[in-house]
Parts: sequence; C-alpha cells; structure tokens
Amino acid sequence: MPPAKVVVIGGGVVGENAIEMAVGMGADVTVLDRSGDALDRLAKRFGTNLRTVHSNAATTWDFVTDADLVVGAVLIPGAKAPKIVTEEMVEAMRKGSVLVDVAIDQGGCMETSRATTHAAPTFLVHDVVHYCVANMPGAVPRTSTYALNNETLPFAVALANKGAKAALAADEHLRNGLNVANGKITDLAVAEALGYDYVAPLDALA
Ligand SMILES: NC(=O)c1ccc[n+]([C@@H]2O[C@H](COP(=O)([O-])OP(=O)(O)OC[C@H]3O[C@@H](n4cnc5c(N)ncnc54)[C@H](O)[C@@H]3O)[C@@H](O)[C@H]2O)c1
Repeated sequence: MPPAKVVVIGGGVVGENAIEMAVGMGADVTVLDRSGDALDRLAKRFGTNLRTVHSNAATTWDFVTDADLVVGAVLIPGAKAPKIVTEEMVEAMRKGSVLVDVAIDQGGCMETSRATTHAAPTFLVHDVVHYCVANMPGAVPRTSTYALNNETLPFAVALANKGAKAALAADEHLRNGLNVANGKITDLAVAEALGYDYVAPLDALA
C-alpha cells in the first residue's frame, strides 16, 4: 500500500513534533511554512524523509486537497491565526480524510473548524473528520503538567525570590511575557490589537 499523505502547515514547535510522529509511522510527509529558515532547519533535521514546501495559496491547495491528514500548526504571535485551509479546499478533499487544527486555541487556521473538547473531540464537515481540541495536552494531563512545570517553575522561583520588579528587570524572557504593568500595556501586539499605547516593560516598571 502507498503510505498515507500527511501535510503539516506551520513547522514550528507543534509542527516539528507532528512531523516526527508522522515520519516515525512511515508516512509521506510534507511541511508547508512561509519561513525559509523554518523549512531549512526541518530539511536539515529530517532529510529526505520530509518534503519542505514554501506556503502560498497555490501550494496549500495542491497539498491539502490531496492529503489524508492535515495538521494546522501556524502561529502569528499576538494575532489570530490566519484561515489557511478554506472551505473550498475541505470540500475538495477525499471523504474520510482528517484535519487536525492545533491552532484552534488562537481561533483556528481552517475555515471549517470550531473548538472541541476531549468529551466530543471530532465532527464532520463535507465528510472530512475535524479534530479541534483546544487543549490537546489535556489528553495526558500528568505528563504535560510535569513538562510545563519543568519550563515554567524557574520563572515562578525567580518571582518569589527576587520580587516581580527585580525578576523582570533581570530576565528578558520573563519580561517578554509581561502584558500589563502599572496600568500600561507592555506587549506591542496586545496594545495594537486593543488600540492602546504601548509602553516598554522597563519603562512601565520604573
Ligand atoms: N490545541 C492545543 O492543545 C495546542 C497545543 C499547543 C499549541 N497550540 C497552538 O498551536 C499553534 C502553533 O504553536 P507553535 O508553538 O508550534 O508555534 P511556532 O511559533 O513554534 O510555529 C508556528 C509556525 O507557523 C509558521 N507560520 C506562520 N504563518 C504561516 C502561514 N501563513 N503559512 C505557513 N506557516 C506559517 C511560522 O513560520 C512558524 O514556523 C499555536 O496557535 C499554539 O497556540 C495548540
């Protein structure tokens, strides 16, 4: 039998892990991304096991409509996900194909998706199965909580030991997570989205 065709849209953290699973299962795997750097990095890691394709309307149509499984994993920081997979594409897919919209927590990157839960994770549109669980790591709550804590606990310890102001001043990554301080919006994307003035975090904390 020919291998199943898996298409991953967005080759970041989520996309790379989806590719790892699909390659491991021997699928015919393609990643679409608009970032040349992301495609380069994935090509170096997966070699000939992965087809890397620059994402645009034409390539998205070609690969999505011929896929058995599409994983949507795009992210534009601070903004809603763009609707990359249109309803027309879904209509043109083979019956029983599967769409997984991981970006659903940012509004979804497929026109036909809507958020679901683990209690009722899937639904059909044009006979294509949609899986759009907004909290997918909740399927393995213990493992995902440990993994998340390993990354986030050092920040909580720094906040507890140094106090918010000193901890934020000392760590650019923690500061990047600051949205509001002293009544000022300290995240550019949030300020733009809500129509407020942006104030740099260190200025707002001064
Ligand atoms: N549903 C869930 O349980 C769950 C879990 C984890 C992450 N997410 C979501 O998954 C999404 C991806 O997260 P991530 O950590 O992998 O992000 P990331 O920033 O690591 O990767 C996003 C990728 O999307 C690419 N991209 C952006 N616009 C694109 C476009 N128009 N066409 C093609 N590629 C494009 C970027 O170049 C980048 O490589 C986010 O929306 C995140 O919130 C959801």
